[in-house]
Amino acid sequence: MIFSQSKNLKSTQVQTDAFIKLCKNLVFGIGQPIVEIIYGIRKDTIPYLPILIWGAIFDVLLLSHLDQKMFRFLKLGWFYPQNPVAYSVYSFIGATMGFWIWGAIQTRKKTNMIQRLTEVFQETGLKSPMGKLPNFIFDKPVDELVRRLRVTNAFMSKAKFDESKDRLESSLQVYIDEISESKSSGTVDILYSHFEISKMFEMKDLKSIGKHRFLVGQTRAKTIYSSLTETPHLLIGGQTGGGKSTFLRQVITTLYCNNTDYNFTLIDMKGGLEFQLFENRDRIKVISTPNDSSSQFHVLDQLLTERFELLKVNQCKDIEEFQQKPKDQLKLPEGVKAETFKLNRNIIVIDEAAELFLAGGKINVSQVQEMTRKVIRLAAQGRAVGIHLIVATQKPDSKAISSQIKANLTGIISFPMATLGASFSILGNGRAKELPSIPGRAVWKSGLDQFEVQTAFLSPDQTKAELDKCSPLKEKSVEEATV
Ligand SMILES: Nc1ncnc2c1ncn2[C@@H]1O[C@H](COP(=O)(O)OP(=O)(O)OP(=O)(O)O)[C@@H](O)[C@H]1O
Ligand SMILES: [Mg+2]
Repeated sequence: MIFSQSKNLKSTQVQTDAFIKLCKNLVFGIGQPIVEIIYGIRKDTIPYLPILIWGAIFDVLLLSHLDQKMFRFLKLGWFYPQNPVAYSVYSFIGATMGFWIWGAIQTRKKTNMIQRLTEVFQETGLKSPMGKLPNFIFDKPVDELVRRLRVTNAFMSKAKFDESKDRLESSLQVYIDEISESKSSGTVDILYSHFEISKMFEMKDLKSIGKHRFLVGQTRAKTIYSSLTETPHLLIGGQTGGGKSTFLRQVITTLYCNNTDYNFTLIDMKGGLEFQLFENRDRIKVISTPNDSSSQFHVLDQLLTERFELLKVNQCKDIEEFQQKPKDQLKLPEGVKAETFKLNRNIIVIDEAAELFLAGGKINVSQVQEMTRKVIRLAAQGRAVGIHLIVATQKPDSKAISSQIKANLTGIISFPMATLGASFSILGNGRAKELPSIPGRAVWKSGLDQFEVQTAFLSPDQTKAELDKCSPLKEKSVEEATV
């Protein structure tokens, strides 16, 4: 008796479990495609055109009763909905079938993704010392090309995920754009795509970029901007033909046109060829010899000293604080008018910097040493007084550019490098050696973040047109130094 009761209980339990499982599958089977459809609508990733075409075709079939004939033809006439409620459900599902199929495909992909992830985490050894694997949380679209995968961090640091990036990419057959973590929730986000980064990113609206800001480039996921307040000095590296001068041209034009109070010193050791477009413009001084560079750095060094003096007298820690002070409260050296001390920002751009610092023969060794000392000082202290350095070089090693200068150039963009050593010397890793040789392709590094980007392209003709709009050419070259 007791035995048969417990048998009954067991079978009821089995039935309940099966029922719960069925409900779960039903909820997942219907619910998950709905969730995917909602994500798709919100992120605009649904292929509306074929779905709507199907909807229209189905409506035509309904109105012409062709659907019913088709059921009969297939000997399924008995299956055709007869009562009004069933008919409404049938019409609705039929007309929106495209959405359901799309949602189901996305759900299938997601289920596959969860299975693959578990295998991949095992294979790539991405597990905690206790053997715990990251757990899937969600995988949803960011835009048409990029998806965001969120997993638990399984008590591992972001660095551990970064180390496994290449292996994750090849196992999952995707391109990973960014790995970020949320320490508070113990999760890691992986932005990935099945698509390659676009090979051309043309710059369109220069004005909308805004004050102090410039455009770096485009990853698959987003457009990256930076500003001189975030990254006060920049280092641009890469072997010949990568896109250094093109990048400089774009950044200078943007900063010049959007900041009418900026002054520029453009130094080019290729005889001034790269900066020809900027010659004879207000607020820009183009220099093409080591001798002129040496005297210009002398002037800039003095400017640095004067500006620090001024900040000190006015008890300001930097240019931002100084500029916010009411003019009538400013203390100025005797006989100096307030307008003279607007502390406009100065941007010093050096293309082919190695040529300047290894200027053997053109200026003597002590002149080079003296100039290097001044550049070191500008790099170390310039930010506070609004003097910014943008340095481009094929050779980023410490022989070509002093490590004291490099240490202060915190925004780094590296185009492809020929050797692993050169890549390490600019980025601290081998990523610049692995870049595809696509003109304008680079790695942007700011702080701990690193992204592969297609840098923004502004053609010489567009550059000229933009420059003409914001500052027409001067009649003839102006002699006075712009500092
Ligand atoms: N972002 C970009 N998009 C498309 N094409 C680009 C981009 N950047 C550079 N290029 C193209 O690549 C070529 C080389 O660019 P650039 O002269 O800027 O290279 P570089 O690194 O300055 O080379 P070098 O060291 O020899 O001076 C040019 O023809 C340029 O038009
Ligand atoms: Mg160049």
